[in-house]
Amino acid sequence: MARLELKSAHGDYITVVGPGSLGRVREVLEQERLACPRSIVADTTVGPLHGRKPAAAMDCTALELPCGETNKNWAAVEGICRHWLAIGLDRSALAMAVGGGIVTDTVGFAAASYLRGIAWIAAPTTLLGMVDAAVGGKTGVNLPEGKNLVGSFWPPRLVIADTATLSTLPPRELRAGLAEVVKAAWIGDHALLALLPDTTDIGYDSLTPHEWETLVARSVAIKAEIVNADEREAGLRKALNLGHTMGHALEAATGYQRLLHGEAVAWGLLAAATLGRRRGLLSADGEETLRRAVGGLGSRPGIADLDAETVCGFIAVDKKRDADGIAWVLPTDDGVALDQRVATAEAVEVLKELQRG
Ligand SMILES: NC(=O)c1ccc[n+]([C@@H]2O[C@H](COP(=O)([O-])OP(=O)(O)OC[C@H]3O[C@@H](n4cnc5c(N)ncnc54)[C@H](O)[C@@H]3O)[C@@H](O)[C@H]2O)c1
Ligand SMILES: [Zn+2]
Repeated sequence: MARLELKSAHGDYITVVGPGSLGRVREVLEQERLACPRSIVADTTVGPLHGRKPAAAMDCTALELPCGETNKNWAAVEGICRHWLAIGLDRSALAMAVGGGIVTDTVGFAAASYLRGIAWIAAPTTLLGMVDAAVGGKTGVNLPEGKNLVGSFWPPRLVIADTATLSTLPPRELRAGLAEVVKAAWIGDHALLALLPDTTDIGYDSLTPHEWETLVARSVAIKAEIVNADEREAGLRKALNLGHTMGHALEAATGYQRLLHGEAVAWGLLAAATLGRRRGLLSADGEETLRRAVGGLGSRPGIADLDAETVCGFIAVDKKRDADGIAWVLPTDDGVALDQRVATAEAVEVLKELQRG
């Protein structure tokens, strides 16, 4: 099992990565000198697969939320807090989230708010959750007006990433999560690209359990290094937005229905690669390497039918806008360049190029 340290203004915490870690939760908690949680919150898919066993092992209550982005909302937070009240959870108690980014974001935000803040543990069960959502301290829910518009920096006390839970994850979700691994690798560790599954028919069996552990641990290490230096996104943390400017616009323009987040990021990485090359930040070889890594993740829903102007209109409303326009993160040969201004007209051109394939 790998063990990584994350720093936070709210207190440092540990991420434990390894197959079977959730099955050994009591041992892991003991090692980290933490008490057993009193409540486990999962969703209705993950609960029966991965939540109920640890709940039984620790003799704590299990709550299962409805799945899906539309349920990452105030009502879910209220439901969780009222459940915690009903079971008598006090300020000193620990809660635990078992699931994808939707569950860890929602439960983390409930934990930040309940009795003005209780400690919580994140047990991500999606690849995206392990390498991104559960690490770094951001929690929150959506409003009808947009995603993640209310939230809090409230890191968990511990992250337990049981990579064996990925064996039940639908392959499409697995591939989408790998786009975030490509992003992380490009930012901080190009050698990680060599560990990506070497097949277009990617599933859990494409790597050994040990290789999944390595892939996740190294991705977390990259995010940890960045978050440890800049928890609140004053500078360096922006690097993690590589591929996300166009990615978010594509997600929004398709009503969050067509593309999984990681699939949108895959398209976004390709757009960023073109822009990086155009600006001379990325060599032809560098562009080819990044394109090959994204291509290696297999197919994803297409975007050829979308109106490029409409999509890029969504870039302008992205939260990452400041007074000088839209600041993109673009790839360089050995990492990323922050704060690259890209005019909407150029973004439209690049997207059209991408749509032509
Ligand atoms: N806080 C952050 O820094 C941060 C970063 C990135 C993304 N996010 C958020 O994460 C969310 C997306 O997370 P996600 O991609 O993990 O989606 P998700 O939580 O919806 O999980 C995807 C689907 O897979 C199912 N699932 C999860 N684990 C499973 C398993 N092991 N086996 C079988 N099925 C499983 C879930 O029930 C769900 O249907 C978004 O809301 C996004 O805003 C947050
Ligand atoms: Zn992302």
